[in-house]
Amino acid sequence: MLRPTLLATVSVAAAISLVAAVSSQTYTWKNVKIGGGGGFVPNIVFNPSQKGLAFARTDIGGAYRLNSDDSWTPLLDFVDDARWNYWGVDAIATDPVDPNRLYLATGMYTNSWDPNNGQILISTDQGKTFTPSVLPFKVGGNMPGRGMGERLAIDPNSHNILYFGARSGHGLYKSTDYGATWTQVKKFPSVGTYVADPTDTTGYNNDIMGLAWVTFDSTSGSNGTATPRIFVGVANKGSDNVFVSNDAGSTWTAVAGQNNTFLPHKGALSVAEKSLYISYSDGSGPYDGTSGSVWKYNITAGTWKDVTPVSGSDLYFGFGGVAIDAQRPGTIMVAALNSWWPDGQIFRSTDGGATWTGLWAWQSYPTLNRYYAYDDSLAPWIGPDDTIDTLTMQIGWMMEGLSIDPFDSNHWLYGTGETIYGGHDLLEWDAGTSRNITLKSLADGVEETSVQGLISPPSGPHLISAIGDVDGFVHNDLDTAPQVSFSNPTYSSSSDIDYAGNKPATIARVGTATDGSQGKQIAISSDAGTTWSQDYGAADDVAGGKIALSADGDTILWKTSSNAILRSQYTNAFTTVSSLPSSAVIASDKKNNSIFYGASGSSLYISTDGALTFSAAGSLGSSTSPFRVIVNPNVTGDVWVSTDKGLFHSTDSGSSFSAVSGVTQAWSIALGAPKAFGGYPTIFAAANIGGVGYFRSDDAGVNWVQINDAAHGFGSASANVLAADPRVYGRVYIGTNGRGIFYGDASGAAPAPTATATSTTATTVKTTTASTSSTTTKASSTTASSTTTKASTTTSTAPSSTATGTAPLYGQCGGIGWTGPTVCASGTCVEQNDYYSQCIPS
Ligand SMILES: *[C@@H]1O[C@H](CO)[C@@H](O)[C@H](O)[C@H]1NC(C)=O
Ligand SMILES: *[C@@H]1O[C@H](CO)[C@@H](O)[C@H](O)[C@H]1NC(C)=O
Ligand SMILES: *[C@@H]1O[C@H](CO)[C@@H](O)[C@H](O)[C@H]1NC(C)=O
Ligand SMILES: *[C@@H]1O[C@H](CO)[C@@H](O)[C@H](O)[C@H]1NC(C)=O
Ligand SMILES: *[C@@H]1O[C@H](CO)[C@@H](O)[C@H](O)[C@H]1NC(C)=O
Ligand SMILES: *[C@@H]1O[C@H](CO)[C@@H](O)[C@H](O)[C@H]1NC(C)=O
Repeated sequence: MLRPTLLATVSVAAAISLVAAVSSQTYTWKNVKIGGGGGFVPNIVFNPSQKGLAFARTDIGGAYRLNSDDSWTPLLDFVDDARWNYWGVDAIATDPVDPNRLYLATGMYTNSWDPNNGQILISTDQGKTFTPSVLPFKVGGNMPGRGMGERLAIDPNSHNILYFGARSGHGLYKSTDYGATWTQVKKFPSVGTYVADPTDTTGYNNDIMGLAWVTFDSTSGSNGTATPRIFVGVANKGSDNVFVSNDAGSTWTAVAGQNNTFLPHKGALSVAEKSLYISYSDGSGPYDGTSGSVWKYNITAGTWKDVTPVSGSDLYFGFGGVAIDAQRPGTIMVAALNSWWPDGQIFRSTDGGATWTGLWAWQSYPTLNRYYAYDDSLAPWIGPDDTIDTLTMQIGWMMEGLSIDPFDSNHWLYGTGETIYGGHDLLEWDAGTSRNITLKSLADGVEETSVQGLISPPSGPHLISAIGDVDGFVHNDLDTAPQVSFSNPTYSSSSDIDYAGNKPATIARVGTATDGSQGKQIAISSDAGTTWSQDYGAADDVAGGKIALSADGDTILWKTSSNAILRSQYTNAFTTVSSLPSSAVIASDKKNNSIFYGASGSSLYISTDGALTFSAAGSLGSSTSPFRVIVNPNVTGDVWVSTDKGLFHSTDSGSSFSAVSGVTQAWSIALGAPKAFGGYPTIFAAANIGGVGYFRSDDAGVNWVQINDAAHGFGSASANVLAADPRVYGRVYIGTNGRGIFYGDASGAAPAPTATATSTTATTVKTTTASTSSTTTKASSTTASSTTTKASTTTSTAPSSTATGTAPLYGQCGGIGWTGPTVCASGTCVEQNDYYSQCIPS
């Protein structure tokens, strides 16, 4: 019997202990509304007993509960730096007996990227509060196969019993005390053999995927007694992968007659038909799948039937989501996991899988009949009707989560790689050839983006973002979803953004594509992000990383994702800057066009010739890993540097630094509007000041107030980006890795200062020693690895340079994992999303 190592109630009322010198101030935190999610939603689960109760899980941004007005409420915003892996939700179980009970299996990675074991988060109030039960193994909410499931299931006849199907070879686990303690089911015959890519050495794609789903046959038992029949799907290919127990988990056998060619993604019980519907794909998901099937297992007869909706050349995808209409026996739906072109596809049957209709059908190639009206009014930027982008997909990709409301046959929801779609008129689908449902983006309240960079310029829009997977936005109104995302060029992900201090409407951003499909990966705007042009000084296939734009906007310093430090003026070709260590973090002066800064190891570097050359200046104490350099936008040479050893301030262009007293570690920092007109800017820091949190100082680091609270933890501190508003005193923007952007305004009284300036420790050591330390801290590794972008990158193989031949018109010509031709026989290769580029008529 395993005992949980930690069983502490997490309550939003819990206090945070701080050193005496730091007080706190109440802040009001709201999401900057992007709308539409902005990331992968692996599943949506309805409670079968309470009308309208449903939950959605995400892979890096926690879980949400559905509200009656179609909006969603986040459940894991208390998650702080220490508990960052709670935001990876690998499974949800909502109790059919007591709908107040909710369980989440959480943990981000099963490899070294996440050092912590996973935990089952137990709620008895539908997700308002949770108690963690720590598991003796890791859980992979952002691992391959995260759309399979659910791996966690509650016995509908005896709800104290739960099963959890583990990854990494740990097998099947059981709890009989509402998830508090867990024991391995030793007699379960398979821990799984499938690994997505045995040649991967990171532990990400070469880990055993393990158990995929657990489904109780509620028809087999009676109230109050453990359900005898339990089905478990395991990620095995070519060997038994669907197992059953008929004695409440004591003994297990492979279900006879099964076809184990593909991996079983979902096992959905139709109570009325006493049948199990199983979707299969040849890949683990969520990005892959070129073949698959759907099977129906008649539990009474013990017979299998292949009910795959399409065959032959129409079958070029695996299957993901499966939905059963609890009120209409024989009405089921399945989703193509990834039909990259011409669009995602969903099939519906009202006769138990004998016949199917699709959400679209070919009219005459390449024209489609789309049997739906498309509505992205809640997130206008998301769909292809945004006239200036080139997207064609509406229905979506990575469709593993598909659900019909058990109380309302018209209400359905499904998750994609980018959003939640669904609607309230699903029965229209059954209206024959005149069918036409409304397909609506229904992710209002789900803010799941992975934010990479934020700026709050002194004029123009208050906030502009660089975002993983969805590029970025000009946030003209913080409370309204943007109409458009960045375009022309459109990047699948942007990794950073900066503005010119003297010309704040001039901004630059960096894209992350290295396959040539998205043009040059630096874009410049002179109208604060409304329109853009490519920087033709950027070389092809050079991408990612961070940028610093000079004060007049004519010079760009660029640390690429491969740590090359490059520099270009007037959009001339970028050239290498050899006098700055390649590990350096970079910044530009906001007033003087010639001045740039870098920080590496324990040294600050300065350039006074427009980033052509750098020389070492002051010392950052015992720091080994600087995190950010920021510069007072009004004062040349007033520089702050955050590091693994604290926060450092220079007023002489980095010649000498003072260490700020009490700050032992600092990550993202930002300078905002001063408290009093003409005063020194406020400084905000994600830092460790007697504890990790978010802090503000109105007096240049002498007194600090903590501005986050127990209900707002913002996940991994090192993964977040801050911007402070230079026009609104007290306002800070926090870009998270998976929970979108928050903005905070002071709402409580400011505490009185307690310390005076003499309490800072001055270290004015001047050094000329260049350091090239490239220590990888938890900070940098989790920042990179826990974004959805990184996950997709690591699962990818670069487009093969040995691919020969050309792709036909409308054929695929690129994308993550694509190894076929990248040249079009006719038309132009246009990126549709990270995973799919296509030859479009020129
Ligand atoms: C199951 O039994 C419990 C305890 O006897 C009872 O409270 C509950 O209503 C029963 N549920 C059903 C669905 O009959
Ligand atoms: C098993 O499934 C594969 C893939 O769908 C199919 O090609 C094969 O014919 C099936 N085998 C049997 C015996 O049904
Ligand atoms: C399952 O098999 C039984 C026995 O042959 C049959 O009576 C029943 O109709 C089947 N169920 C379905 C849904 O086909
Ligand atoms: C469904 O409705 C939309 C919007 O009115 C329309 O554009 C589309 O052509 C319709 N589809 C069919 C097959 O009638
Ligand atoms: C910018 O800084 C350089 C280097 O310190 C200095 O020579 C130059 O005069 C400054 N320019 C302005 C406009 O202050
Ligand atoms: C810079 O100066 C302007 C004009 O005085 C002021 O409005 C702004 O708040 C200052 N910015 C910061 C970050 O101090």
